[in-house]
Amino acid sequence: MEIIRVKNAEEGGKKAFELIKEGMAAEVKTLGLATGSTPITLYQEMTNSDLDFSEMVSVNLDEYVGLGGDDEQSYRHFMNTNLFDKKPFKETFVPNGKASDLQAECLRYDDVIAKHPVDIQILGIGVNGHIGFNEPGADLEGKTSLVHLTESTIEANKRFFDKVEDVPTQAISMGIGSIMEGKQLILMAYGANKADAINEMINGPVTNHLPASVLQNHANAIVIVDEAAAAKL
Ligand code: GLP
Repeated sequence: MEIIRVKNAEEGGKKAFELIKEGMAAEVKTLGLATGSTPITLYQEMTNSDLDFSEMVSVNLDEYVGLGGDDEQSYRHFMNTNLFDKKPFKETFVPNGKASDLQAECLRYDDVIAKHPVDIQILGIGVNGHIGFNEPGADLEGKTSLVHLTESTIEANKRFFDKVEDVPTQAISMGIGSIMEGKQLILMAYGANKADAINEMINGPVTNHLPASVLQNHANAIVIVDEAAAAKL
């Protein structure tokens, strides 16, 4: 793992943007994208840039079960408003959280990933070390699946909802096995509440108790951390 220390989220977003820009100047065609507060500064860099994404494909990590693209808290809506509406891509994929057959939707999404292998995968990290919505205990070789969110994740994500009861308890998430197939992984983490997870991810054992630790096994994983998130390294 390569660790890049930055001052704050703004500098982190610029660093990640540079890596994407370099990639696009070479062979990169497919970006694996993430939601949450962490990638927002990166998406700002992308939308403010003069880069053209109209030949690029994106494959997002996850979506809440029960929320459609019209729901303001859905990850589809987040991606549209923070990036795609401002910088059109050729094609964008996000799991369908309103699919009537959720198992079939997982298989469909695996097919999307197989047809569009991810060149650069952007990742955030949960306070409990989850990536995508792969919570502690997840299969480190797993494919797309229907997942149950932990109390800690529901608690952390309730800030985006009116009340905690509104936070969906299930999601569809790209699996860790598929995430690891991305040619390059860029995980970003900002803020003191990520310091323990970042330390465990880098210095702890590779274990599904802290899913992000699996990045230790990836040949091209870059971690961008601000001072607060790096405080326990
Ligand atoms: C959610 C997303 C993750 C994200 C995490 C952290 O659980 N599924 O992809 O990394 O939140 O979010 P934040 O960046 O807001 O801390």
